[in-house]
Amino acid sequence: MDTKFNRRTFLKTSAAASAILPTFNILAEDKDGVIGPDDDQVNVAVIGYGAEGEILTDDLVKIPGIRVKAVCDIWEHRRKLARGRLKHLGHVVKVYEDYREMLDTEDKNIDAVVVATPDWMHAEHACYCLRKGKPVYCEKEMSNQLSRAREMVLAARETGLPLQIGHQRRSNPRYMHAINNVMRKNNVLGRITHAYGQWNRSVAPFTVVGEKIHIPIKTLQKYGYENMEQFLNWRWFAKYGGGPMVDLGSHQIDLFFWVWDCAPISVTAIGGNDYYNRQMNDNVMAIYEFKTKEGVVNRAFYQVLTTSSRGGFYEQFMGEQGYLTLSEIPARGNTAAPEPGYDWSKFVKMGILNDAKAPVALQVKRSSDASLDARVTKAAAGMPLPVDLLKPAHMPHLENFFLAVRRKDPKLLNCDAELAYESAVAVLAANRSVAEHRTVYFKPEEFKVPADAKHDPAKAAGEQPKA
Ligand SMILES: NC(=O)c1ccc[n+]([C@@H]2O[C@H](COP(=O)([O-])OP(=O)(O)OC[C@H]3O[C@@H](n4cnc5c(N)ncnc54)[C@H](O)[C@@H]3O)[C@@H](O)[C@H]2O)c1
Repeated sequence: MDTKFNRRTFLKTSAAASAILPTFNILAEDKDGVIGPDDDQVNVAVIGYGAEGEILTDDLVKIPGIRVKAVCDIWEHRRKLARGRLKHLGHVVKVYEDYREMLDTEDKNIDAVVVATPDWMHAEHACYCLRKGKPVYCEKEMSNQLSRAREMVLAARETGLPLQIGHQRRSNPRYMHAINNVMRKNNVLGRITHAYGQWNRSVAPFTVVGEKIHIPIKTLQKYGYENMEQFLNWRWFAKYGGGPMVDLGSHQIDLFFWVWDCAPISVTAIGGNDYYNRQMNDNVMAIYEFKTKEGVVNRAFYQVLTTSSRGGFYEQFMGEQGYLTLSEIPARGNTAAPEPGYDWSKFVKMGILNDAKAPVALQVKRSSDASLDARVTKAAAGMPLPVDLLKPAHMPHLENFFLAVRRKDPKLLNCDAELAYESAVAVLAANRSVAEHRTVYFKPEEFKVPADAKHDPAKAAGEQPKA
């Protein structure tokens, strides 16, 4: 890493960051106050420049000190786009079709790698990079197969390098405030007996692209895809992805772990491939039971639909004293409200919540209470969270990754492989519950890769999984 970005630039950036992180500024938590290495230049390679790779790269170039040096994608069309877009953003990149060739050629020019390929390739790409000595930011879900996610945990342990998994809500200051501060530290909602999460999307056909930009069939097959349809719509094929339940549920089910600080004891899910003629479930409804450290059982309901966009995506936490709605898009969820008889004015004084009457742009407008009758609990006005994210959604998570890279300290990560593995166990089990029409019960030890587990070369980086 070259030291090309000076301390003044960095301090300006961190001051801006602290303005949006009033309570949980990771920089403020720095014990010794040393900021020295945080202004180092970090040279980055990206593997997988698809929709998400482009979003992450657009964020990367906004982070002080980050230079994108190389991009790998098996699709020439995307390699061309990457080179052009990055040139426009002031980064000259070399492009590669094969990640091994990129890592071998650029070894000395690359300090860290961002992996945004389809889920089935995450383990192969992340493990190879880690074993080449490169810290990795890898998109979620860790893998569509638990055995491969396990290999990622082992590679991170073995190398001692940062491996951040892309559950970006873990670094979102609004989520950090709502979960760490409102719910956990100050217990504003009381016991949270239930949680709800949903991701609803409207009907969408398979993605198609013009033949002019198709990948030659030989190249597709070399990289494990049978044809362009499978390549472009990988989420819907068991070999490559886990369907909407894994794709979307991975973000939100992780939150239930975070709020209750424990893993579930069971999942009962119902769903199916009922609307499209596709391999993976197009709708899933799952109930997770969590037994907390205090020994109480709480339940979370998670729903993913692909035939209706009703309500979009958000999460709700329902406690005996009040409830809180969150969404990565604040307009869809950014408020808490007390149950009758609870006065939260002290939390407003403490700066944890905004006054319901405060003229906050993001406050959700409530419909009139005029139609309430005796069957309905009178709803209090929603009190907005006073913390906002003024950057793109993935940026704080990337910044957190580079903090760990620069300080050579994986413990600084907000979502390392060990943590992400826990929710991967629960998320992947929902599809199993659907397939087997039964409740899947978990043992606590299932959520950890055993300390004496050995890296299995057959499942490790480099293996091409069979169809
Ligand atoms: N964190 C988030 O909010 C978020 C959002 C969307 C997607 N994702 C994740 O990002 C990943 C990519 O999703 P996407 O929507 O960008 O998919 P995509 O299909 O748009 O992009 C995948 C890219 O990877 C390339 N690729 C495929 N196999 C490759 C290989 N062997 N080597 C190099 N490149 C290869 C493809 O050519 C394509 O350009 C997935 O894991 C997905 O779950 C995360």
